[in-house]
Amino acid sequence: MSSTTNTIVRLDGVTKRFGVTTALEDVSLSVERGEIVVLLGLSGSGKSTLLRHLDGLEVPTSGAVEVLGEQVTRLSGRRLRALRGQVGFIFQQFELVPSLTVLENVLTGALAGIRGPRLGLFSYAKARKLAALGHLDRVGLLDRAYQRADTLSGGQQQRVAIARALMQNPKVLLADEPVASLDPESSDQVMSLIREIAADEGLTVICSLHQVDLAISWADRIVGLRHGRVVLDTPTEQLSKAEVMEIYGRVATSTAELRVVQDELLAAEVVQ
Ligand SMILES: Nc1ncnc2c1ncn2[C@@H]1O[C@H](COP(=O)(O)OP(=O)(O)OP(=O)(O)O)[C@@H](O)[C@H]1O
Ligand SMILES: [Mg+2]
Repeated sequence: MSSTTNTIVRLDGVTKRFGVTTALEDVSLSVERGEIVVLLGLSGSGKSTLLRHLDGLEVPTSGAVEVLGEQVTRLSGRRLRALRGQVGFIFQQFELVPSLTVLENVLTGALAGIRGPRLGLFSYAKARKLAALGHLDRVGLLDRAYQRADTLSGGQQQRVAIARALMQNPKVLLADEPVASLDPESSDQVMSLIREIAADEGLTVICSLHQVDLAISWADRIVGLRHGRVVLDTPTEQLSKAEVMEIYGRVATSTAELRVVQDELLAAEVVQ
């Protein structure tokens, strides 16, 4: 990466087609070091697809994707794994291994940096276990280290997933609807935690959300997607809720989409 740039993520004219479906259409976007960006848009607007391109999980049909100075599409094997090691990813469904302890789940976050198979807690070096316990402390769950992951609440499980992502010492954190399965109180806790950690660690965060109010109060910048196109890209402080709602459009093209638009409007407490 050029030492003169602080650009962490750059998409240049990215189009992604799945058969006849265009998931992303000519998306160009740059994210600078330390920015906290939220992707907003209706279901199917391309949020997850965009995030997956940043981790090399999708390859664009055309256009370029650069993350931490590397052209993601040109990487494979060890170099792709090395890049992924610097990109933490958290998901709506947490993706923990339910039957493993909280500590073991966090330790799996270090697997990118370890050779050979892992055979339970004993096979991890003491330094890694101490690091994992430190991350669990950071997310407020040190006392749960030896509990099975599936005995925790949803909010606690997402905090474990954050601790697991931290095991990689990531530079970028991607979050795909990290609080969609959580109640409002747990959502606030998880989102505050992500912001605090991002500030402490100098992380760049790109997060998709469905909750407009949360996005406005939490993000530095909002990128709106509609039908795979960027229709809004503005610092949050300059945005009104009405402007954000433009992302969702007022005209629905099908009954199913209408229902989703109505849900979004209700969620944002916009009285029609
Ligand atoms: N692997 C795939 N194969 C075929 N179509 C896909 C694939 N992945 C995504 N799509 C399509 O691409 C479009 C964008 O999907 P994507 O999952 O990125 O939307 P999203 O904004 O994340 O939606 P949601 O809010 O429901 O999570 C959708 O039409 C989806 O059906
Ligand atoms: Mg999605």
